[in-house]
Amino acid sequence: METGFTVEQLRAAAVDAVRAPSLHNTQPWRFRLRDGGIEVLVDPDRRLPATDPTGWGVRIACGAALFNLRLALAVAGTPATVRLRPHPAEPDVVARLVPDVPRRPAPAEQALHAAIPRRFSNRAPFWPDPVPADARWRLTEAARAEQCWLELVVGVSAVNAFGEIARSAHRVLERSPEYRAERQEWVRTAPARDGIPAASGGPQGEPQDLLPSRGFGGLDRAPGRDFEPEPLVAVLGSPGNTAVDQFVAGQALQRVLLTATDSGLAASLLSQPIEVPSARDQLRLSLGRFGTPQMVLRVGYGQPGWPTPRRDVDEVLDLPVVRS
Ligand SMILES: Cc1cc2nc3c(=O)[nH]c(=O)nc-3n(C[C@H](O)[C@H](O)[C@H](O)COP(=O)(O)O)c2cc1C
Repeated sequence: METGFTVEQLRAAAVDAVRAPSLHNTQPWRFRLRDGGIEVLVDPDRRLPATDPTGWGVRIACGAALFNLRLALAVAGTPATVRLRPHPAEPDVVARLVPDVPRRPAPAEQALHAAIPRRFSNRAPFWPDPVPADARWRLTEAARAEQCWLELVVGVSAVNAFGEIARSAHRVLERSPEYRAERQEWVRTAPARDGIPAASGGPQGEPQDLLPSRGFGGLDRAPGRDFEPEPLVAVLGSPGNTAVDQFVAGQALQRVLLTATDSGLAASLLSQPIEVPSARDQLRLSLGRFGTPQMVLRVGYGQPGWPTPRRDVDEVLDLPVVRS
């Protein structure tokens, strides 16, 4: 068997990588082919200064893109060895992937890879059907396999207490005109290759909602079409909160999301309680877990929807310089 990555394999893997989720669909990543490997970089021009002043969201998104890249290369038969933050002098380089020993992909890798183009954020109300125990187990195992944890918020009083934290974080964020303006800038009412299409933004929030909607789409809600009364809320956490921990959490997030898609489940993300430091602390204390909450997911059975657009891979992929 041939060893090493081909340029075609790396390009195809980058096509999968850009399907990762990102705050407001900013797609804050770049990919660089170098010395037979591929590197993932943060794109500093795509940071959201008001929404993501620390760069946490960019690091989660780049970690998620990295997971897709790993998966695509493994499924192509040449898994990667990954080094996070490989060049200390270049902090924007998230990871470097070089070829490991070729092997046949595992069926589980193939299943998750097949889920990449089908995954999308489903912000609509879910059906009230509970998520069965085996699917819950698969989700928590997916986080664990990436050195993170996924805590399911179970029971009416725990979900209500979480709702309280999330709504209050939402109110804090909404007080900032810069935050609101930034969100508006990324809502798309005409076809575009980044940002959130208004039709994908979910219905208008209403006072009776347990969980806050971010307010992207503001689609009118049909009478009686309320959100599920007892959503499955899951909090993803990492052992620490360094930049590397956040890259690790992004990979775990994507593994959990693809596992949900592969299990026939819908999911949406809810990061207001992560973005407000006091809410994040409250959330951490309420869970009683070591480590740091990095993302909140709502999981359930949803109506079909459609994936959101992405920029063309050639816009984000730097090919090696060929010397003549
Ligand atoms: C760090 C991060 C935070 C996010 N926070 C939210 C959120 O609070 N509310 C929401 O509806 N979507 C949130 N999202 C989802 C993105 O808006 C979504 O991934 C992006 O618009 C691309 O759409 P897709 O997930 O359908 O591919 C978040 C995504 C990331 C990576």
